Amino acid sequence: MSRVRLQEVTKRYGETVAVDRISADIADGEFLTLLGPSGCGKTTTLRMVAGLIEPTEGTILFDDQVVNNVPPHRRNIGLAFQSHALFPHLSVGRNVAFGLEVKGRKKEDIAARVREMLAMVELGDFGDRLPSQLSGGQQQRVALARMLATDPRVLLFDEPLSALDRNLRDTLKYSILALQRRTRKTAIYVTHDQSEAFAISDRIFVMNRGRIEQAGSQLDIYLRPQSEFVANFVGDNNALRGQVIAVTPAAEGLPGLAMIQSGAVRATAANTAELAVGDPVLAFVRPENIEVLFDEEGRDEPEVVSGTVDQIVFEGPTIRLVVDVDGTPLRVAVGGLARLGLLDAEKRTVRLRLREASLVRDPAIGAASEPASSRVPA
Ligand SMILES: Nc1ncnc2c1ncn2[C@@H]1O[C@H](COP(=O)(O)OP(=O)(O)O)[C@@H](O)[C@H]1O
Ligand SMILES: [Mg+2]
Repeated sequence: MSRVRLQEVTKRYGETVAVDRISADIADGEFLTLLGPSGCGKTTTLRMVAGLIEPTEGTILFDDQVVNNVPPHRRNIGLAFQSHALFPHLSVGRNVAFGLEVKGRKKEDIAARVREMLAMVELGDFGDRLPSQLSGGQQQRVALARMLATDPRVLLFDEPLSALDRNLRDTLKYSILALQRRTRKTAIYVTHDQSEAFAISDRIFVMNRGRIEQAGSQLDIYLRPQSEFVANFVGDNNALRGQVIAVTPAAEGLPGLAMIQSGAVRATAANTAELAVGDPVLAFVRPENIEVLFDEEGRDEPEVVSGTVDQIVFEGPTIRLVVDVDGTPLRVAVGGLARLGLLDAEKRTVRLRLREASLVRDPAIGAASEPASSRVPA
């Protein structure tokens, strides 16, 4: 088991800064995910932890040991990639045994360990098959068994599921989580897929252009994005630029509130950024948090706005609208039975109520800091 720390780690390739002064403290047994778009530096970060790439600057520690000069095979890590690279000519059992044989373990110990690992990934009866005689998902489970066989202290995953079809990804992500929970090993998992990151992580680092844009729990990242990038990359969001027009201070256990105006749109939100009247602000409102009101509902509420439905897309469980509110296009998602009342709403005027906005000061400062509430206990 290991705590993993990165201190101001940078990787440059000539002019390209692949990873830009990343610092992280990953607790023993924590499941941490690096989430971000292609090219943001996830793989480079992971490979530096693995020892496959040398940092240009900065320090990497496993527990209290600086590992910068420790070669990959001495770091005691388990690696899983998109292509699991099983040896095609070796049986499943020999594949799992491989790392143990390299380490020169005793034959009977190896046999016992292989049985234990294959049982753990529910492939107990498949030890004698060749990889080509297994499905893609089974092959990936063999790769997991092989990864765990040598009892590594840190598990590193680089988009291990991205080559599989969706149903398999959904099942296997929970297998990976279950294995990590059972073995209680520190894990760093790289993905560009938000739903994967949300399903399995203790904590998520959203990366952008080589930096950690926001670190926190699923709730922090989804409900309280600290930048426009995070607000847009994780799920869908309406980003409204405007000004604070009123504030209510916190009192008696109730949070302080700020009311913002952006064009014709008004919204109220928790004033976590400690904004004052007149401050420029970016308000994020998720499409599913905009309510379409019917009949006389909300007629006199100051924060209810009306607009014209410009576009409708029926997606099955939800209907998506684009509503023009005095020149501001708002994306709205409606689920449940209410969506069926909107099928012919194009060009109609509707009233909207915005709920659960989150606010950051504009221009958004790329917040690499992390709120104290998001820390995962070790
Ligand atoms: N060996 C390399 N030489 C030059 N540039 C590289 C090399 N490896 C990665 N990069 C660049 O570094 C950035 C981060 O890459 P990478 O870590 O692979 O991103 P991700 O895994 O998030 O898609 C990209 O701009 C990529 O083009
Ligand atoms: Mg990558």
